[in-house]
Amino acid sequence: MKRKLIITDDGSHTFFIENLKENYHSTFGAVEEAIEVFIKSAFLFCKKKEISILEIGFGTGLNAYLTFLKNQELSKKIFYRGIELYPIPYNEIEKLNYSKIFFQKNADFFEKIHISEWNKKVEIDKNFFLEKMEINLENYKSDKKFDIIYFDAFAPDVQKEMWSSEIFQNLYNILNKNGILTTYSAKGLIKRRLKKIGFKLEFLKHPHKREMIRAIKN
Ligand SMILES: C[S@@+](CC[C@H](N)C(=O)[O-])C[C@H]1O[C@@H](n2cnc3c(N)ncnc32)[C@H](O)[C@@H]1O
Repeated sequence: MKRKLIITDDGSHTFFIENLKENYHSTFGAVEEAIEVFIKSAFLFCKKKEISILEIGFGTGLNAYLTFLKNQELSKKIFYRGIELYPIPYNEIEKLNYSKIFFQKNADFFEKIHISEWNKKVEIDKNFFLEKMEINLENYKSDKKFDIIYFDAFAPDVQKEMWSSEIFQNLYNILNKNGILTTYSAKGLIKRRLKKIGFKLEFLKHPHKREMIRAIKN
């Protein structure tokens, strides 16, 4: 995958994938979007003291880093598993400005998240355990259940196989009761699929679009 670094409207970087003509984040603000869609709508919404999180599409590690930073205030016990088929090499990760511009106090942890070994549970700090798994989501059979799923795949128009009913059914099955799945997309087709599987849907304001989805397992 050939990636080009670009700056989004809030000053944070994202990557543009040339052959897909798709960005890793919203060009209106990568950090702003991640905070709204994943941190506020899922992580802060979950009231458990021990939280297991599954991220679909680990990519730049921005969502893991933001979750880690927020947890510096909350001190919950976090197990975070990020699934990724195409890990980004460290020489590209180093160019991202997330820790340099926005979160200098904990900059070292962005590096720690990235240099941690793949396919192994690693302690990032005493409250945050990370496991980056290099695997195709379509082949992922979970040995664990989760409280939260950050569903951050490329858009349905670009990678429709990631948004299939089978994938969402598998994700539903591996959520705990009252588990939460959030995603930036609120396409009609995706809403209908999630609803049919049994999720209760809430539509929240997205910073750069009309709405986004929070889906809850009953
Ligand atoms: C929209 S990007 C989001 C990345 C990430 N959440 C971030 O903040 O940088 C989607 C991610 O899904 C990954 N991906 C694409 N196909 C996949 C698959 N079949 N299984 C797992 N990950 C996949 C891509 O490589 C990419 O990193």
